[in-house]
Amino acid sequence: MVIISSKQAVLYYSWSLVVLCLYMNHVRTEAELRVGYYSFSCALAEGIVKEEVRNAFIQNNGLAAGLVRMHFHDCFVRGCDGSVLIDTVNPSSPAEKDSPPNNPSLRGFEVIDRAKARIEAACASTVSCADIIAFAARDSVEITRGLGYEVPAGRKDGRVSLASDALANLPPPTSNVNQLTQSFGNKGLTQEEMVILSGAHTIGRSHCTSFSNRLYNFNSTTSQDPTLEPNYANQLKAACPQGSTNPNLVVPMDPLSPATSDVNYYQGVVANRGLFTSDQTLLTTQPTRAQVVQNSQDLFGWQKKFAAAMVKMGQIGVLTGNNTGEIRVNCRVIN
Ligand code: HEM
Ligand SMILES: *[C@@H]1O[C@H](CO)[C@@H](O)[C@H](O)[C@H]1NC(C)=O
Ligand SMILES: *[C@@H]1O[C@H](CO)[C@@H](O)[C@H](O)[C@H]1NC(C)=O
Repeated sequence: MVIISSKQAVLYYSWSLVVLCLYMNHVRTEAELRVGYYSFSCALAEGIVKEEVRNAFIQNNGLAAGLVRMHFHDCFVRGCDGSVLIDTVNPSSPAEKDSPPNNPSLRGFEVIDRAKARIEAACASTVSCADIIAFAARDSVEITRGLGYEVPAGRKDGRVSLASDALANLPPPTSNVNQLTQSFGNKGLTQEEMVILSGAHTIGRSHCTSFSNRLYNFNSTTSQDPTLEPNYANQLKAACPQGSTNPNLVVPMDPLSPATSDVNYYQGVVANRGLFTSDQTLLTTQPTRAQVVQNSQDLFGWQKKFAAAMVKMGQIGVLTGNNTGEIRVNCRVIN
């Protein structure tokens, strides 16, 4: 028989309570989304998405970048609810996808459409568009040789999409480190996660218009951003002539390996070759600078942290349960 004093018993009891509370808290926040959510209701879903991402990547490897960015732009605006996919119905009230941060730069919509059509044929009204984006983003990280990860699912699709919400919630490329920290903080992400997720700029492209202010009309005393490495600035000027309004002019954000999830992005930033002010600004505070340097030297370390941060980003403001959203049949149209 084990005899414990009443003091020990109280101690033990209160510790159990603490542990129980932590556990329940954990269940409440994490149990909303679940890995393998569709394993019984639509076992083919994740495989279909993976196939469509692969088919798209073979045609145009930039689509992987487009889909990673799509998940970010979905999650930061009304939560990860597929609202970024909804087409504008009334031009006087444009949808998210027609706001300046998304139009004309966001791409990959047809990949989601193709996956959704096949999934609807296999299991109607079961798999949300928001989850399809989350799966596709993961598959895009994987196919660019990043680290794969499991995607908790069970998101419902939202029924509202407003361009003004996208403008208000997506940080512009002119942001400084405090503004970025604030913007990510508003979504429950830490400054460290902000630096980790910025590493997504190791894949994909940018339109000239997203950074040409750094080349030609920086401020009233200097036309060119002095923090931009001069040789790189000259290359960018050659690709992006002053005054050009050609919306098709784009440059790779990581010119060395634009379709590989490596740490060249961080190496570029260290060399003052970050494309946006929002990239270069990560060098301006001690903690963010230390992280940039650390990530630039630790491929596997960054890849692991990136996968974890993507999972966390994928939980922002999700709609779950029965009465909070819908399973859209066509990702472009609310039911
Ligand atoms: C830290 C704040 C961020 C800012 C200010 C920012 C801004 C931008 C801008 C201006 C572009 C270029 C768009 C264009 O002109 O074509 C871009 C591209 C991209 N961004 Fe970000 N971004 C940020 C964070 C993120 C995050 C968190 C992710 C994903 C986890 C991400 C993924 C991407 C990808 C993959 C591209 C390339 C898209 C393509 O090739 O189609 N970005 N970003
Ligand atoms: C212009 O930018 C330079 C370099 O960042 C800075 O030193 C200067 O104070 C800025 N001038 C104005 C008027 O903002
Ligand atoms: C949600 O709806 C399903 C199907 O209508 C039902 O089986 C389930 O019990 C509901 N869950 C909750 C939490 O209400």
